[in-house]
Formats: sequence, C-alpha cells, structure tokens
Amino acid sequence: MTSERDSGGRRSRPRNVALAEVTSARDAGDRGVVGCDVAPARPADVPWIVALTARTVHTSWSEADLAAQVARPQTLFLVARGAEDPAAAGPLGYLLAHRIADELHVLLLAVEPARRRRGIASALVAHALAEGRATGARVALLEVRAGNEAARALYAGLGFREVGRRRRYYADGEDAVLLTLELEAADAAPRGAR
Ligand SMILES: CC(C)(COP(=O)(O)OP(=O)(O)OC[C@H]1O[C@@H](n2cnc3c(N)ncnc32)[C@H](O)[C@@H]1OP(=O)(O)O)[C@@H](O)C(=O)NCCC(=O)NCCS
Repeated sequence: MTSERDSGGRRSRPRNVALAEVTSARDAGDRGVVGCDVAPARPADVPWIVALTARTVHTSWSEADLAAQVARPQTLFLVARGAEDPAAAGPLGYLLAHRIADELHVLLLAVEPARRRRGIASALVAHALAEGRATGARVALLEVRAGNEAARALYAGLGFREVGRRRRYYADGEDAVLLTLELEAADAAPRGAR
C-alpha cells in the first residue's frame, strides 16, 4: 500500500485513503506487520472478545450480549487474525456492526494494545464497509468519544466526516461525535480481503 513519512519520520497515510488499500493490513517490514485476515467471528472467539472489550472499550455490552451477536444475520461481527496461518493464529482485533435498512452502524471496534498502529483496525473497517455496501448499505454511521483521538484519526483517514455531536452522551459526561461515510462515494472493491 502507499505510504509516506511525515516530518517526524512516522509513517502516515494520505487522507481519504482508498479502502482497497487497507483491507489487508500493512506491508511487512513496517513496525513488524505481517498482514491480517478478516473473517466472521466464531463462538470460540467470544471469550477473547469479551476480555479485550473489558480492557479497552467503555461499553455496557455484556458477555451474553456479545455472544448473542455471533451469527445474527443483521450483525456484522468480524475478527482479524494474523494472515500467515489464520486458522491457528490468535485474534488481533474485532469489529461489531449492525445493518439497519440501508445503514451500517459500527458499534464496537478494538485491537489488541500490543498490535496497534499496524493497520488492523483499518482492515476491519474497510472490510465492514465493503460488506455493508455489498449488502445494500448506502451509509456508515458511528459515534465516537470526543476525546478518542486514535479512533477519530482512524475514521478521518478512512473518509468519515463529522456530522454532529451529542453533548454529555456518555455516562462519565464525555461528548459523542457523530461520524458518517457515504458508501456510494467511497472507493470500494476490497483488494486482498479474505
Ligand atoms: C482505535 C483503534 C481501534 C485503532 O486500531 P489500530 O489497529 O491501531 O488502527 P490502525 O493501525 O488501522 O490505524 C490507522 C490510522 O489511524 C490513526 N491512528 C490510530 N491510532 C492512533 C493513535 N493512537 N494516535 C493517533 N492516530 C492514530 C492513524 O492515522 C493511523 O495511521 P498511521 O499508523 O499510518 O499513522 C485502537 O487504538 C483501539 O482498539 N483503541 C481502543 C478501543 C477504541 O477506542 N475503539 C474505537 C471506539 S469507536
């Protein structure tokens, strides 16, 4: 995939990067990335998803709630694994989204802390957007904590734009920022999504 270095020597992607460029994670050799394979979550993934969620996401989703999402037809529940041997590899990150009419609502997204900044979340989101589009979604929507700079940068890089803010939306008083992406306008056709 294309990449460039900023003045600090860190790699940065161009804004509004084509989704096709992020569906299989970063190039090998850059921060140790070996790529990832994105596939539907399995029941056996639920304990790991629950554990990662508890460690990294402020959410009211319970273990039973998450377990019930696996194999629901209107749910997109994706897990990224190392691409070299996905069947044997442990999970690296996951994404949960709901299809509601022609909308794709991204609800949860998390990556193992030790595996971040390697394109895994980008691959998960790009895969979800491609699947959403393939099943009739015209727009993707989500809410993100105003102070979640990592997630806001991730979504901005994928072309999402801010369309509103919910004041004191979260229980601790933090605002939510509303983001959307028109899927028809986005560059689709995932390359290498497995
Ligand atoms: C947000 C999160 C999912 C990102 O996962 P990730 O796999 O590290 O993301 P990617 O490697 O695909 O990052 C893509 C781009 O997003 C931006 N980004 C990601 N993490 C960032 C950070 N900590 N600070 C600034 N920008 C960041 C960068 O532009 C990055 O591209 P670059 O590495 O080329 O600069 C991860 O940090 C996480 O699990 N956080 C906790 C849970 C969470 O906040 N979920 C989102 C709720 S909506």
